[in-house]
Amino acid sequence: MLLYLDCDTGIDDALAIGLLLAHDDVRLIGIGTVNGNTSAVQAAANTAGLLALAGRSRIPVAVGVGEHRDEARHVHGDNGVGGVVLPDGGPHDPRTAAGLLVDLAREHAGALHVLATGPCTNLAAALRAEPRLPDLVVTVTVMGGAVRVRGNINPYAEFNVAIDPAAAAAVFAAGWAVTLVPLDVTLEHRWTTGDWQRLGGSPLNDALHEMLPVYFDAYEARFEEREIALHDPLAAAIAVGDVTPADAPLLKLGVDPATGQVLEETGEGPRVRVVLSLTAPAGPLMLDRLLRAAGASPQVASPEGRRPAGS
Ligand code: RIB
Ligand code: CA
Repeated sequence: MLLYLDCDTGIDDALAIGLLLAHDDVRLIGIGTVNGNTSAVQAAANTAGLLALAGRSRIPVAVGVGEHRDEARHVHGDNGVGGVVLPDGGPHDPRTAAGLLVDLAREHAGALHVLATGPCTNLAAALRAEPRLPDLVVTVTVMGGAVRVRGNINPYAEFNVAIDPAAAAAVFAAGWAVTLVPLDVTLEHRWTTGDWQRLGGSPLNDALHEMLPVYFDAYEARFEEREIALHDPLAAAIAVGDVTPADAPLLKLGVDPATGQVLEETGEGPRVRVVLSLTAPAGPLMLDRLLRAAGASPQVASPEGRRPAGS
């Protein structure tokens, strides 16, 4: 499948990128960055650095426009990736993120899938630039929202939606095939420190391993155990069909412009498939996908002498 990723590369966005690159049957043909966990410019540098580690620097990375509200440093670190220094991934695509998305959608009309793991600012800009976008794009998967659970940026709203409520509302109402992956399901699929110790076996996986302690620290306050929620990698796994939703009703969704709360509405209008649960735990599956891509075998200790994968 052909995929465009829009992200605010942050730590869990980086895990999602690793997962997408680990899929032989996913052609990641463009990445746009958006202001969210870090600035869109920093997110683009982070993304290009990850692609360089994976030897995939031919994938264009375009920077989104807009203002950056610096509200996630405590979760993702000062540079968005836990302070890890990534390689210089080279120059970014000269287009805006929205411009890259529109060009790819026109070039691959009827074949492009979109995954958004940050605020929907670029997707809304692309809808304004190309009103035919919902007819050109096959599916849109969005990590965001807190539909029937408590929010994470305030009691009612999830970060990605709350950073740009109007953009999220525009994406929900555009009439394309949207799947929303909210906190309702992403908080239930986690990694433990044991999973973290297994992650390695390639330069990309080693960088992801190095980023995660900052993310564990941020989540330790929320979870009784030292565990992390896998928001963006789970959205990626759903987008590419790696995991199967169990409860995923079609709902008419609005967004409270003041709080960013996602609201279930009645009446006519476009519906969004909202994934509330899965058929099986996704954390182990996503870890194994990353390890397999690195050729890391559960029997072999990783070069740094960490506990053998799978032990
Ligand atoms: O609320 C979690 C979402 O906000 C994730 O996408 C995380 O990366 C941040 O963007
Ligand atoms: Ca994100």
